[in-house]
Amino acid sequence: MDFPAELKRQIARVEHGLDRHVPAAGTRPARLHSAMRYSLEAGGKRLRPVLVLSAAELFATTAAYDPAADPVPAAVAIECVHTYSLIHDDLPCMDNDDLRRGRPTAHKAFDEATALLAGDALLTHAFSLLATAYAGRPALAQALVRELADAAGSRRLIGGQMEDLLAEKKADATPDELEFIHLNKTAAMIEAALVMGGRVGGAPEDALPALRHCGRSLGLAFQIIDDVLDATSDSATLGKTAGKDARADKTTYVKLHGLDASRRMAAELTATAQSALAGLGRNHAFLAALIAQMAGRTK
Ligand code: IPE
Ligand code: IPE
Ligand code: MG
Ligand code: MG
Ligand code: MG
Repeated sequence: MDFPAELKRQIARVEHGLDRHVPAAGTRPARLHSAMRYSLEAGGKRLRPVLVLSAAELFATTAAYDPAADPVPAAVAIECVHTYSLIHDDLPCMDNDDLRRGRPTAHKAFDEATALLAGDALLTHAFSLLATAYAGRPALAQALVRELADAAGSRRLIGGQMEDLLAEKKADATPDELEFIHLNKTAAMIEAALVMGGRVGGAPEDALPALRHCGRSLGLAFQIIDDVLDATSDSATLGKTAGKDARADKTTYVKLHGLDASRRMAAELTATAQSALAGLGRNHAFLAALIAQMAGRTK
């Protein structure tokens, strides 16, 4: 397997899917649709949608695999929800950031109200897309909507974001509170990406717990590394403001555990994600290489 070529192929499917499944910038009101596309088209790693596509392909040689069930709309839907979460995360009332994906944040390039509405619209669009694209497979559509809604909901992504804000400047935050924040604000969506991909690929029910376990560990490692990079990298490399967590006195792995222990925990969680993946007994070379790349990422 040629990992760089395969990653390029999967990202190209995502980019093409985003263009095809999100309203054109000129759609009325053009200011809103331009803002939605501004943040989406700025790029990013496309981790979650690539996880959807590659998790679906894990099951390509099984009897339940339906080549006509296209994972691209599910991949686009999760990238829309992720991008909405970044737009809102950057707002002045949240992390107050002015750089994202190498560009001014949505509220800087447009204005706060437009950024708020673009986020709302991307979130809503994701569910419309799932309901439309999988209408011919109602059980699959229902499972995908539920998975994404649960991951993005008040107990998970939004709940994690709430506790992240509540834990700012908190001197007595515990490791358990911190783990709750990271498992929910970040790992929930990474877990959902693998499960949604598995579902589109026709994964048997008994494969879903391993996909979840893999996503949970990968997602927690991913946010720990995000905390480490915030403390050690620079804004030009990251495409977002470095050093923000310390300035806002966020409760992060670096603050609570220090850099060395954080790096060690991320490595252990990455190993856990790899064994959960291997336990599926599928051809997982691409996903294993992707997980390894995320562990060593510099942005
Ligand atoms: C940023 O996510 C927010 C976190 C959960 C750390 P990514 O690091 O995946 O951001 P993009 O999509 O590549 O811009
Ligand atoms: C954000 O965590 C996670 C989201 C759900 C958006 P951060 O606030 O650390 O993400 P960055 O560093 O701004 O990308
Ligand atoms: Mg934040
Ligand atoms: Mg932030
Ligand atoms: Mg961060």
